[in-house]
Amino acid sequence: MSNTIVIGAQWGDEGKGKIVDLLTDRADVVVRAQGGNNAGHTVINDGHQYILHLIPSGILWPEKLCVIGNGVVMDPVAILKEIDGLVEDGIEISPKNLSISDRAHLVMPFHREMDAFKEANRAVKIGTTKRGIGPAYGDKIDRIGFRLHELVSGSASFVERLHSRIEECNRLFETVGMAPIDATAAEEELLAAGRRLAPYCADTVAILHREMKAGRMLLFEGAQGTFLDVDQGTYPYVTSSNTTSGGACTGSGVPPHRIDRVVGVTKAYTTRVGEGPFPTQDDALADRFHGMGREFGATTGRKRRCGWLDLVLVRYAAMVNGFTELAITILDGLDDCAEIPICSHYELDGKKLTLPPASIHDLQRVVPVYESLPGWQCDLSQVKRWEDLPPQAHAYLARIETETETPVAMVGVGPSREQTIVR
Ligand code: IMP
Repeated sequence: MSNTIVIGAQWGDEGKGKIVDLLTDRADVVVRAQGGNNAGHTVINDGHQYILHLIPSGILWPEKLCVIGNGVVMDPVAILKEIDGLVEDGIEISPKNLSISDRAHLVMPFHREMDAFKEANRAVKIGTTKRGIGPAYGDKIDRIGFRLHELVSGSASFVERLHSRIEECNRLFETVGMAPIDATAAEEELLAAGRRLAPYCADTVAILHREMKAGRMLLFEGAQGTFLDVDQGTYPYVTSSNTTSGGACTGSGVPPHRIDRVVGVTKAYTTRVGEGPFPTQDDALADRFHGMGREFGATTGRKRRCGWLDLVLVRYAAMVNGFTELAITILDGLDDCAEIPICSHYELDGKKLTLPPASIHDLQRVVPVYESLPGWQCDLSQVKRWEDLPPQAHAYLARIETETETPVAMVGVGPSREQTIVR
């Protein structure tokens, strides 16, 4: 029995959804512990594509329990929409297979508006998903947030606090000519959502500890990626939660010594959506992927920026997350490259850097130093076994292992569950 955390080693969109889906086979409980519906986890199951935002992807497996932990910020209206969409697609969802932490903070309508307002007025844009994530976490840290148990109670104090917060936000929106939020309509919508969510609202800390006591295995589905972590990422171009492995513990109430495996997921190259430094960005590579219909964001549909694999980043991610193994996704994306540049370190003002600098101004100035590895120039999409990968692909993967001091345990060669080679 091993409790496992799956973490993105880059800027999100590493293909964690598929790796989580694969590992779910051996898990009993799938847990989300941070982020919100800024995430978009794509899973292809029996030829059908599902994009999950808040609900753990374990929901696609009928016998698994899914838990949304206390560290998630949850939009009550968005989650009901997601539940309804999945039910329409034939997925069974009930309090038997989905529990949501009573301590989870809520993304309120004014958080979404505030996200848009802040983004529009920021001198340096972050390129947020405009799902209200930053303002919801901001209120949590400021100790003025709303939690699920309050919404479900529908208490007079909740309604009073809601109205006073909306009034406060409306005063600000008015000064910049934004439409005010209709407090009565918001109250009705939220209380109706609260009534529907009540059966799912639970003490998930108690549930997770009960499950562990019974010998069941937990799988933590990380959202976003290491370099979007509010502490370890490319601050301020980050999301507002701890996306690294520690966040799985604080966001669920499961202590660190109960974690056995941390699987780092990295694409065979690098992508980023939104703003912020990206040393190995290569627009020609991006044009190639976009021309093939690849690399569009699952949540916002935005074109992702693309570049070569940056081992400085993956090396740092392996350190801060304690990766026990790596899963390399979309290796097939490099099938037609004759040469594959791989960035082993940076140079900054004549100095060699093997880890990313704290300052984004420095990260913007670094010069990535590439080695060029020979490509395999054949179709990997049908390869099923590690031994059957071409020698050039083995050499590419070995280079990643050496530089990150982490073994590669899985390799993705296509979007479906079957197109994953387990070593
Ligand atoms: P926020 O999380 O909406 O506040 O956005 C902050 C930054 O994180 C932006 O650059 C977003 O594009 C990025 N981001 C948030 N969630 C994801 C994700 O699931 N995948 C990739 N990027 C994300």
